[in-house]
Amino acid sequence: MGFSASAGCAQGGCSLPSRARLTLCCFCRKFTSRDFSYHYEGEQFCISFPEKILPFDPSQWAMAWHKSIIKFYRKRKMNRKYIAILVIGLSLAGGIAHADENSLGPLAKMVGVWEGDKGNDVAPAQKSTGAIGAPAASPYFERISIVPGAGATNASEQDLVTVQYHQEVFRKSDKKKFHDQVGYWIWDKKFNTILHSYCIPRAVCITAEGKLEDPNKFEVGTDRAIAESIFMKNNGTTRMFNMSMAVNGDDMKYNQVILTTIYGKDFSHSDSNTLKRVKQ
Ligand code: HEM
Repeated sequence: MGFSASAGCAQGGCSLPSRARLTLCCFCRKFTSRDFSYHYEGEQFCISFPEKILPFDPSQWAMAWHKSIIKFYRKRKMNRKYIAILVIGLSLAGGIAHADENSLGPLAKMVGVWEGDKGNDVAPAQKSTGAIGAPAASPYFERISIVPGAGATNASEQDLVTVQYHQEVFRKSDKKKFHDQVGYWIWDKKFNTILHSYCIPRAVCITAEGKLEDPNKFEVGTDRAIAESIFMKNNGTTRMFNMSMAVNGDDMKYNQVILTTIYGKDFSHSDSNTLKRVKQ
């Protein structure tokens, strides 16, 4: 097979020469540099990956792949080239997915689908209720779907990782959806900060943040990072948002308070719920 050799594998089990720029030989598990390649000799495939893509040792799953692919090869007498491409493709896909999971830090535990039916909302009653602006309580159930999101580098120095979510809230009395929200939970490792950035279809968006003091409980708030429509600014402005979000194993619990000025007075609009993870 086409590969060039320089530094040989240091440990036993791999008779293969490793390329000068190889990063990892799956048999000898030795990282050397940042190249990507594979080599094949006899019955062994060796694969190397760039450190940037795989900041962990993929040798466990790579070994398993080696074995099954070689078995397959023996049976089918398939062309080596196709097998090598298959090994590399599948291994990389697995590796990248694994790397994503690893890099979510304190947000990793949020990924999944969560459901809870102990929700309690206190919001200003609308005109149609006959008690305009009075506190109206609505028990609710909800589903929150959270998946790994895209990261970002800001102003050349802030490195962010995210999970993104969709929250759907249903009033218990009529089972109608009465709140919908999309957003991100964001981890800034360097500045040890958690951010919560989201929008709701009343034309209001919020970015709240707080120091990461407890990896299982995020406390975020803001009285300034609030974007709202002109109508909401004039008729139901949001002035402050505070939230605590705790995740332990398959249990999630949140409390939030939205301070709004509506119908000529301040109102503390609050929501809380406990949820269970129903799908990873
Ligand atoms: C689980 C989360 C939430 C639920 C269940 C909920 C529910 C409600 C309900 C029932 C009302 C009364 C008006 C209506 O019947 O539509 C209301 C009003 C309002 N909510 Fe929420 N809300 C939630 C989260 C939020 C958040 C996160 C914000 C702001 C960022 C917000 C901002 C407002 C505002 C400004 C009003 C006043 C609008 C009006 O009554 O005309 N809500 N909410």
